[in-house]
Amino acid sequence: MTITGLAEPFLRAQLESLGLAVEYVRAEGDTLYRRGDDGRELPVLDLVGGFGATILGHNHPEILALAQELLSARVPVHAQFSLHPYAETVARRLNEILHRDTGDPGPYTAVFANSGAEAVEAAVKHAELDRGLKAAELLARIDEETDRARRAVRDGAVLSAAARRLADGGDFESLAAALTAANRARAEEPPVLLALTGGFHGKLVGSVQLTHNPVVREPFRALAAPCRFVPAEDPAALAAAIAEEHRTALGLTVSDGTVDLAEHRLPRLCALVLEPVQGEGGVRPLTAGYARELQRICAEADCPIVVDEVQSGMGRTGSFLASSAIGLRGDYYVLAKSLGGGLAKAAVMLVHHRRHRPGFELLHSSTFAKDAFSTLIAARTLDLLEADGGARYRQAAERGERILARLEGIRDDFKDVVADVRGRGLMLGLELRDQGDSTSPALRELSRAGVLGYAAAGYLLHAHALRVFPTASATTTLRIEPSVHITDPQIAQAESGLRALCDLLRTQDGDRLLAR
Ligand code: F0G
Repeated sequence: MTITGLAEPFLRAQLESLGLAVEYVRAEGDTLYRRGDDGRELPVLDLVGGFGATILGHNHPEILALAQELLSARVPVHAQFSLHPYAETVARRLNEILHRDTGDPGPYTAVFANSGAEAVEAAVKHAELDRGLKAAELLARIDEETDRARRAVRDGAVLSAAARRLADGGDFESLAAALTAANRARAEEPPVLLALTGGFHGKLVGSVQLTHNPVVREPFRALAAPCRFVPAEDPAALAAAIAEEHRTALGLTVSDGTVDLAEHRLPRLCALVLEPVQGEGGVRPLTAGYARELQRICAEADCPIVVDEVQSGMGRTGSFLASSAIGLRGDYYVLAKSLGGGLAKAAVMLVHHRRHRPGFELLHSSTFAKDAFSTLIAARTLDLLEADGGARYRQAAERGERILARLEGIRDDFKDVVADVRGRGLMLGLELRDQGDSTSPALRELSRAGVLGYAAAGYLLHAHALRVFPTASATTTLRIEPSVHITDPQIAQAESGLRALCDLLRTQDGDRLLAR
């Protein structure tokens, strides 16, 4: 057996071939420092920001100071199965913010986790618990209806024609048995999970089923309930999918001495899971019009909505939630990434009291979730975001607009190279045109292999000290997600690097793209 000591040799080889195999040794604000060949630190402007986890920048001084204080004070990280006042503080703070931004007083119950995928799964698990309990409650109600009908038959009531057909010509007890068998079979059908094409919700066994990209999802599709994907921005497709999945359970009514069949909607829809701004799928904001329609369709079908704000939340798009800006209300919200202030691993799912099932926390828990260290850091992160009447949100919007204007300028000057520029606040994407037919063999091959965006990232790193990455499921879109503290000179540096990249693509200079 060979032990290489490498965490993932395959990944290392990929990084090396694309010029991305560098080691970062320090991080501050929007700068990561890498070790140069001569041993000195080289600053790199980080526009990836931990895939959106550093809304306040790397190692924010106040977060860092708090972390050091907590360690010095020997605050217990582990005190499972005791009171967690810090987690309560975060939950209360989040409720205040949600109430203010959505107008919905909730309250939302918070269930903590360690990562985005885990919190998404907690939301889905809760939704499934709720669905299962609702189905059981319905079947119990139907049993009561059956008892009532049984008594009525004893008192002389007769079966309707439809009821007799179901009883296969038999008596009331044959009817009751047929009804129970049919209902149990229908109730045992797997739940329906809905998500949008292009969406990303994590890579764990359950959450990967909701992640649209087949490359990461398909190898694991047999491990958990599959998800039904509907195209974003197409309310009719959502309505059609929901209509197709509609199932009923059969109950009994008694009126005017006749026992008849009654149809009840069987709770089959576990949840619709979506991002208000799709991140990993290419930075694609949902429109307010679509949000309104999907909200109406889901309300009619009693389908809970899980709003995944793992990447778009925590102020990144100019308001605490990206969903509130498009009028979308969630039965569940999921937050992670920047909730940990760029330092801690913290995630939370929030479930509206209308749907909340007490006792869920006993069914779902994790050793590290809601530990004092991460929740105290999350609480301070929320304080920093909320300070000065929400100045950080305005800053995210202002910085974002400034960067967007620069990106739009680039798009206008390089229409032959740039396909689109999109996003909201500090969640922006610049989509390059495909180079599959380039006159440069290097560009052609990179493009056909789906790694043009990564090669562009290698070029920007070495030639312009810029850290940019493509969105993993839409690899020609470069994602730009800096902190609210990005400065004008840093924006200018990003612009000049991106212009140089576009110039190189325009002149089909594949060799320069790969030169190190
Ligand atoms: N949901 C969304 C919207 C995400 O963007 C991510 C991660 C997750 C869930 C999973 O969170 O990694 O903490 O388990 N997105 C990264 C990306 C990986 O590339 O955008 P996790």
